[in-house]
Amino acid sequence: MERKDFIEKVGLSAASVLIFGCMQGCSKSDSPATTQPPSNNNNPPTSKIDFTINITNNPYTDLNTAGGFYVDRTTNIIIARTLTNDFIAVSSLCTHQQVTIDFQPNSNRFFCSGHNSAFSTTGAVLDAQQPAKVALKQYKAILTGSSLRIFDPLN
Ligand code: FES
Repeated sequence: MERKDFIEKVGLSAASVLIFGCMQGCSKSDSPATTQPPSNNNNPPTSKIDFTINITNNPYTDLNTAGGFYVDRTTNIIIARTLTNDFIAVSSLCTHQQVTIDFQPNSNRFFCSGHNSAFSTTGAVLDAQQPAKVALKQYKAILTGSSLRIFDPLN
């Protein structure tokens, strides 16, 4: 075999391997699902919500105090402790334009400063005139010792 023939054959084989490998790597069937809709009442999360946090550990320690709250950016859930020490949890994204909401303990409500919409402790719309017209999705929050379980009772 002459040098030119050898290079042509080896080169063609290498190119075939590279193209085949790329096709395998680019296959849709191998690609993980990366599109997750935001978790709000208009577009609820597709995965099951059920997790437990220890409120004595960072970053959850604000929940040790009545009136404290924590926003979980992974699940887009806000967890709050009311002034009467009830634990509550709702979607943290406003149903108007997805701004992250806060908890206002003295008013005992969730509030979106994006365009001033307020929600009850169960996520209900408090004022029919406000921009957000749809309730926040509500989750269960149950404290056992220092472990706080957040879950969707409908799943
Ligand atoms: S984004 Fe919350 S009121 Fe507009």
